[in-house]
Parts: sequence; structure tokens; C-alpha cells
Amino acid sequence: MKKISSFSFILIILCGFSACSSKQSSEDYTWLKHAIDVSAEQLKYTVNDVGDSVWLPRSVWTSYGTDFLCTQLEKDPLTFADSLRVKPVKGEVGSRRYCFSIYDWTSGFFPGNLWYAYQLTGDEGLKKDAVKFTNYLYPLREYKGTHDIGFMMNCSYGNAYRLCPADSVRQALVQTADNLCGRFNPEIGCIRSWDFGKWNFPVIIDNMMNLDLLFYVSHLTGDDKYKELALKHAKTTMNNHFRDDCSSYHVVSYNNDGTVEKKCTHQGQNDNSSWARGQAWGVYGYTSCYRESKDAGFLQQAKNIAALIMERVKTDDAIPLWDYDAPDISRTPRDASAASITASAFIELSTLTEDGQIYFDYAEKLLKSLSSDAYLAKVGTNQGFILMHSTGSLPNGSEIDTPINYADYYYLEALLRYMQVKGIDYKNI
Ligand code: GLY
Repeated sequence: MKKISSFSFILIILCGFSACSSKQSSEDYTWLKHAIDVSAEQLKYTVNDVGDSVWLPRSVWTSYGTDFLCTQLEKDPLTFADSLRVKPVKGEVGSRRYCFSIYDWTSGFFPGNLWYAYQLTGDEGLKKDAVKFTNYLYPLREYKGTHDIGFMMNCSYGNAYRLCPADSVRQALVQTADNLCGRFNPEIGCIRSWDFGKWNFPVIIDNMMNLDLLFYVSHLTGDDKYKELALKHAKTTMNNHFRDDCSSYHVVSYNNDGTVEKKCTHQGQNDNSSWARGQAWGVYGYTSCYRESKDAGFLQQAKNIAALIMERVKTDDAIPLWDYDAPDISRTPRDASAASITASAFIELSTLTEDGQIYFDYAEKLLKSLSSDAYLAKVGTNQGFILMHSTGSLPNGSEIDTPINYADYYYLEALLRYMQVKGIDYKNI
């Protein structure tokens, strides 16, 4: 397809959506306008609800019984370890769940949603809100305790710098990138993901998403060291996280000499299953790596994961079950977040390869499904979140069939990328 070159794709992102306002087609974009309008209204409603409290909306509290979880996990209830279960306080089910603090891994998504909604609509009120919520995260520039600082700061401060550059924002991004690099172990060739748990050196597939901060900071500083380290992480992950069919393990833990200690799951159905969001993180991450390196191995990896996703999806609307190996029954929750991440990744992938139309068409199908009444909230409902029906961590009983801030983030990003590829300007639809 290669409608726009990867370089111009980055430029368009850097310059903002107003750069591509000239080409309008006669296609019916009612669904797209509706999606953007609902998104902006939901975010304004939430900002208003939160007021001046330093609370960052994350999801909506859910609670599921052990029997349901065991059916999903195909486990005998007698063998089910309940200790990791995230249990809502009585009376909280159905209410908005906030990040436990700015150190929650999802803290950057709500500010990021405000930035994207501002970029999509040009609404200055949303920009003001984005600045306010982004500022709450300023202390994170000093935080070293997780790989998720990539997500947390790139989605908030990264978008802030793109749309409203300031020296202090740039410095916060560089400092965070340095801290992320501090988690890299040269013997192992990877950035350490978590500091908790029983693993020696855990690396999760999600970590591929933190690399975009390093790529961005390489561009900002002109220093390739961030990019080189990110690409090394991606290569090591490519060697160890993937099975022959290109599905990925969730967690790979390494011994100190770089050999593999263990391959397992934390959020999937079982150690050998294909957790839906993990596959989405993978295709997104390797697409980014190809955009930055032009290494054909990364492009092939992204395409192989994309093929697996398209082949293994079981639903008519293409929104995956929470795990591709979960029981194919009507009660099995879906994961709209996996769909929105996939849509965003596929749109970028479609711009990087001659045969990109298949990825663009699939992303369009995902976006139309997500923008239908089955997933897109009605204004004033869904605790102010945009999408319904995501699944956070089913084995931990957490955030099952519920709205989640990162589903909204990648949905907005995908809508933006869709419009950029199509050359559509919100003001003209
Ligand atoms: N990065 C954690 C998750 O995807 O749930």
C-alpha cells in the first residue's frame, strides 16, 4: 500500500493533523464523526466529574466469582490460587476505578486521551485539560521502579511535547528515557520489566511498547544510544518470546548470564496460550521497530504476528476474546483494548509496506466495530470512558469486561492515524 512513506508518516504525526486537510473523499464518515464527538464529550464529562482532585481515571470496578474465572482458565477451582485477586471494596462494583497513584502503570493514558482528543478536534478546552492532567505526572521523571515509565511518560509528556513543546517537557522525557535505559542489562540484552514477583529478570511482551519513548528521545536529542538499546531489546525479545507460529509468551525471565530461566504467563489463559493483548503489543512494537530501523526482520515479525491475529480471531466483528485460547462460548469476555491497539498498529504497518491494504482494511473493520453501539458508549454513561468491553487481567480477577483507559487511548490514536492516512480533517466531515 505504502500510501505515505514512513518518514512522512512520522512528520505528519509530528506536525499534527491539520497538515492533512486537503484531501476529502465522498466516503460516508458519519461513524467517524460520531466516534470523535462521543469521545470528546466523554472526556469532558469525566474531567468535570473529577474536578480538581488529583485522580486519574483508569477503569470501572468489576467482580467475578471463582467459578467463572476457573471456566475461563479451564482450571479446577480446587487448584485456583486466589491470592492475587484484585477485590473491589463492597459497594464499589460499577463505580469508576482510579489509578492508585501517579505510579500506577496506566497513569499516562488519561492525559494522553485528552491530548489525542485535542488533536482530533482542535478544542482548546481539551488542551487545557490535557496540560493539567499531564502536569500531575511530573514526579515520574525521577521514577526508576518499572519499565512502564515508557508508557506513562510517552503517552502524557510525549504527546505534550508533540503538540505543545516546552523545555521542561523535553527534559522530563530525556530524564525518563535515561531511567528506562538504566533498567537495561547488557548481559541479557533486555530492559527489565518488573521489580516484583518470583522471577530473576522478568521481561514481558508489553515492554515492546516502552521502546517508542526511546525512539522519540533519540529523535529529540540526536543521540542514537536510546534507539540502539531499544533495538537490542527488540532483537533479544524476538529470539526468546516467540513460538514457531509467531504467537508470544507473556513473560520470559532470564538468568544473569542471559539464558532463559522461565517462559510463562501472568495475564493469559495459561503459559502456552496466546493472550490477546500480548499479541497486540507485539505487532505494535515490531511495527515501531521497523519504522525506526528499516530492518526487514522487524517488518517480517510484525507481519507474522498480524497474520496470526487475523487467522486466530473467532468473532464476526473481529474484536478478540481476551485470549485466543479462551473457551469459545458466549460468556467469554472480549478485549476491546487488544482491538484498538491492533487497529493502531495495523494502520501504521499499512503505511510501511507495499502490501499494506490488507492491514488497513482490517484496521478499518476493527474501528467500525469499536465505533458501533456494541462497544462505543453513549454520552454520559460508562463512567465517562469511551469504549466498553475490555479485559485487563482475568487470571487476577481484575478489570473483566469493562472500560479501560488504554483501550480509549489506542482507539483515539487509531482514529487519528486513520484520518491521516485517508487525508480527512475533522472540520470537514
Ligand atoms: N501492560 C499490562 C497490560 O497490558 O495489562
